[in-house]
Amino acid sequence: VRHLLGIKNLTENDIHTILDTASQFKDVINRPIKKVPSLRDITIANVFFENSTRTRLSFELAEKRLSADVVNFSASGSSVKKGETLLDTVNNILAMKVDMIVMRHSSPGAPHYLSGKIPANVVNAGDGTHEHPTQALLDAFSMREKLGDLAGKKIAIIGDILHSRVALSNIFCLQKLGAEVMVCGPTTLIPKYLPEIGVRVSHQVKEALEWCDVANVLRIQLERQQIKYFPSLREYSLYFGITKAMLDNLNREIVLMHPGPINRGVELSSDAADSSHSIILNQVENGVAVRMAVLYLLAQQ
Ligand code: CP
Repeated sequence: VRHLLGIKNLTENDIHTILDTASQFKDVINRPIKKVPSLRDITIANVFFENSTRTRLSFELAEKRLSADVVNFSASGSSVKKGETLLDTVNNILAMKVDMIVMRHSSPGAPHYLSGKIPANVVNAGDGTHEHPTQALLDAFSMREKLGDLAGKKIAIIGDILHSRVALSNIFCLQKLGAEVMVCGPTTLIPKYLPEIGVRVSHQVKEALEWCDVANVLRIQLERQQIKYFPSLREYSLYFGITKAMLDNLNREIVLMHPGPINRGVELSSDAADSSHSIILNQVENGVAVRMAVLYLLAQQ
């Protein structure tokens, strides 16, 4: 496999290989000397056509920990604003002897398109509403670290499922690892086909929380919604917002996750986000090791 375009086409074995490799890299980056020479002669371009904090910095740190040379490209401030195409942009970056492209783009399928046109490895860092494979891998890694084997574990993904690439990649990844998956949100924000692929659906956040071992909470993606504000943020917060009291009242352990960025006071109250249930910052920490594993394994192909 030369590219990581999504979770859909990975096998269970591929996922375990990535997670096991990430465990080894997590040990490495917790040592006083955090760098290894694994990608010393490799140059990687992080090509971001959409905003990012966690994914972009995490890839850059992963690349630097592996001793790769790194260049960063943001569409804003680039010649994309003068009309240069995606393919011309990337071919010009490759002309400077770049070996791998990590790409985020607002169009679903943009990394797939690119992977058929260029000789470099392509890693999808999020393509529109489609997939965000490294987020799903770091989420699975973080759940596995907390709960052990995910087979039979119950994971609820709560929020704007319709517009979320994190939801789709998580569903593929968790099902391949044998977990049971429920999605929960307003009817307007849940794709109708999900029951056909074995995903439970709930429209009651209390029911989802009572059912699950892990609640992976997503934000409302206003920037991707065609019909704005349905439900409004106020309505969403009223009916689907999760507070610390709701988690405490379960009287058992529940793991709270969120890929970020959090809209505090909408999908999560601050006291929930910062509670002992939350492993949100562990997810961010694990992102570096997981991305090191992905880049390292692709470089061997
Ligand atoms: N989780 C995630 O993709 O965050 P960023 O948009 O900040 O990269």
